[in-house]
Amino acid sequence: MIDLQLQGLRAVVTGATGGIGNAIAEKLALEGCALTLVARDPPALDREAARLGALASGAPVATIAADLGRPEDIARVAVSLENADILVNAAGAVPRGQLLDTTAEAFRWGMAVKGFGTIDLCREAFRHMKARRRGVILNIIGNSGQRPNPKSVGTSTVNAALIAFTEAVGSISPDDNVRVLGINPGLVATPRTAGLLQASADPNDLAYTHLTRDLPFGRMARPEEIADFAAFLVSARAGYCSGSVYTIDGGARLRV
Ligand SMILES: NC(=O)c1ccc[n+]([C@@H]2O[C@H](COP(=O)([O-])OP(=O)(O)OC[C@H]3O[C@@H](n4cnc5c(N)ncnc54)[C@H](OP(=O)(O)O)[C@@H]3O)[C@@H](O)[C@H]2O)c1
Repeated sequence: MIDLQLQGLRAVVTGATGGIGNAIAEKLALEGCALTLVARDPPALDREAARLGALASGAPVATIAADLGRPEDIARVAVSLENADILVNAAGAVPRGQLLDTTAEAFRWGMAVKGFGTIDLCREAFRHMKARRRGVILNIIGNSGQRPNPKSVGTSTVNAALIAFTEAVGSISPDDNVRVLGINPGLVATPRTAGLLQASADPNDLAYTHLTRDLPFGRMARPEEIADFAAFLVSARAGYCSGSVYTIDGGARLRV
C-alpha cells in the first residue's frame, strides 16, 4: 500500500469544476485533503462542493467564485493561499486556432486567464509556502508547449511559457523546501475536448482525423489518469520532484 500522506492537508484547486481540475479535486478529497474549489460559475461550484463534501473522507470543501482573468478576483483567491499546503492550477480556456483565426482580444484573454492566472497564484502561494517552509504547487499545462501545434497557436504559446516558468521557479524553490511542478497532458476526455470535437466534426478536417484516429491506445486520456499522477506528485511520496514538467500523453507528441 502506498500512503500518500495527504490526509488533513489544505489544497486549493483552480478549474475545479472542469474535467481535469475536478478529477484532481475529487482524488485529493478522497485522500482526505481539505479543499478550496475555484472557478467562475457559482452553481457549478456549489454542486461540486456538495458532491465532494459527501465523499467518505468527509473533508471540508470551500468554494471561491473567481474569474482568473481579473486581477481583483486573483487577489480574492490569494487570501485562501495563506494556509494552503497545495495549489493546483488547472483553470484555463485558451482559444484554439491558427494565428489569423484568433483575435488579439481572445489571445490576450487566454494568456491572462491561464498564463497570468497561474503565474500570479504561484507567486502568492510561493510567498506563503516560503515563509512556512513547506508546500507544493502543481501546474496543469499541456504538451503543445513542448511540440507547438500550428492549429493551436494560443495554447502552444501559453503552455511553452508555463513550462519555462514552472521549471525556472521549481528549480530554485527547494531552497525554501517548496516544490513546483507541472503536468503536460495530451488530449484528455473533458468538456473542453468534447467542444473541440464538435467544432471539428468534419471527417475531412485534419484536426478531426488527428483527434480521433491516431491517438495512443486509440483513445484520449481519462481525467482520472491525470488525477492519479497529480495526487502522487503533490504527495510526500514525490518529495524529490521539483522543477520538472511531466508529460502524460501516451507518446502522442512524438507521433506524426
Ligand atoms: N483537456 C485536454 O485535452 C487538455 C490537454 C492539455 C492541457 N489541458 C489544459 O488543462 C486545463 C484544464 O483543461 P480541461 O480540459 O479540464 O478544461 P475544462 O473541462 O474546460 O475546465 C476548465 C476549468 O477552468 C475554469 N475556468 C475557465 N475559465 C476560467 C476563468 N476565466 N477563471 C476561472 N476559472 C476558469 C472552468 O470553470 P468556469 O468556466 O465555471 O470558470 C473549469 O472549471 C486547461 O488549462 C487546458 O488548457 C487540457
